[in-house]
Amino acid sequence: MVDVEHPAPDDRPFLIQVSSLSAVAREAFAVSVAQRYRVWLFVGGAGRTQTVTWEGPYIVGHTGIDTQDAPAMIEAARALDARLRAEHGRGVAGVVCYDEARIVDAAALAAALGLPTSPPEAVARCRDKHATRTALAAADVPQPRSRAVADVPQAVAAAEAIGYPVVIKPRNLAASFGVLRVDAPDGIAAAHAHALSIDLPEEKNRYEAGVLVEEYLDGPEISVDAACFDGRVVPLGVAHKELGFAPAFEEVGHLVDGADPLLRDPDLLAVLTGAHAALGFHTGVTHTELRHSRGVWKVVEVNGRLGGGLIPHLDRLATGVDVNLAAADIAAGRTPELTPGPSRVAAIQFLYPDHDMTIAEIRVDTAALPPEVERAGLLAPTPREVKLPPNGQAWESRIAQIVAVADTEQDCRAALEVAAKAFTVIPATEESAP
Ligand SMILES: Nc1ncnc2c1ncn2[C@@H]1O[C@H](COP(=O)(O)OP(=O)(O)OP(=O)(O)O)[C@@H](O)[C@H]1O
Ligand SMILES: [Mg+2]
Repeated sequence: MVDVEHPAPDDRPFLIQVSSLSAVAREAFAVSVAQRYRVWLFVGGAGRTQTVTWEGPYIVGHTGIDTQDAPAMIEAARALDARLRAEHGRGVAGVVCYDEARIVDAAALAAALGLPTSPPEAVARCRDKHATRTALAAADVPQPRSRAVADVPQAVAAAEAIGYPVVIKPRNLAASFGVLRVDAPDGIAAAHAHALSIDLPEEKNRYEAGVLVEEYLDGPEISVDAACFDGRVVPLGVAHKELGFAPAFEEVGHLVDGADPLLRDPDLLAVLTGAHAALGFHTGVTHTELRHSRGVWKVVEVNGRLGGGLIPHLDRLATGVDVNLAAADIAAGRTPELTPGPSRVAAIQFLYPDHDMTIAEIRVDTAALPPEVERAGLLAPTPREVKLPPNGQAWESRIAQIVAVADTEQDCRAALEVAAKAFTVIPATEESAP
């Protein structure tokens, strides 16, 4: 007798994913999307390896390629599509990308293949914060006054015209790199130099007027993850952002309440819808940051991609809606499933050392983590030197992240507070410090 195994036919559609970033930041995406799609990863580019590590179990193949070279990706994707059609009877259904420095290239790839996407120009308008401002201004969408400047005298003049305090920031970066609040004219030159000093090798766009001077919006900040499809902009999760390290704008935590009335707030929805229409962004998931200033929601920026900081994961814990999967569904031309489940409150807290130091070791007492903690982990290897913002930047200075989920905001925050105490930073002694 011969046993013949019949593997279940795998008819999940194929998606091309452009770049994957780190497991701590993006494994939740991989887990969600692999349930429904066969993911083929395009990986590599300036300063990046072309090899696959943690992504392995979640993908069906990969191509080592410069993921900022759209023409090369288009050629590779056409060949892949032909191969998949020949071998599996179905080609590439969509393109997904959450890597800010690659979203325009990914949109160009999807457009060239005739797959669902917002126009690459609309995605580029999100990336260039000055282009965002210009588009929103033309459509009267509420936002801070903003000017692009090429040098310090222009920055001083812009700040005078706008009125202090102002925010000075690079035109095209992310992760709050180089963003500073300035309260008086004598701070402008240093902030301008700081904004220009941040040079990421990944960042290809260079502008003559590469710095923005903006009206400072006071008031609380939120980010809204929204699904854009069929001419609709549907808010899926509202994250309340906790800021720290002034005059920098470091995001030290986010909280998402599944029952947040802002999810159905008509004024907020009008601003969101207006902003997306002004930018021409109609297909995909976006992450829009806003501040409530003088009674009005004003747009800080629209990121033409999924949010970072595990916010899509918080959305799912709090609302039951899988925002990561929604992004994949929209990319594949499928109507996303947006029916919420029971509401909960989910939050993430990033931990930092108390001051600049060389960290020898970080100890975690896992037994001391309360049951509300959904995940908690270190963000970087030790030993290492840590500089806090504004001198150091988020990705270097964060030492750990904790996610908790509970029935109320109070319980969720209390759990995070207890959990933070489970982490102990051991500084290097002076003798052993480098
Ligand atoms: N005009 C403004 N008024 C008040 N705060 C601002 C303004 N512009 C930026 N900020 C603050 O700085 C943060 C970072 O700015 P912005 O989002 O423009 O840059 P970013 O580098 O793309 O940020 P990130 O990737 O962290 O979202 C904002 O989330 C907000 O807290
Ligand atoms: Mg931002």
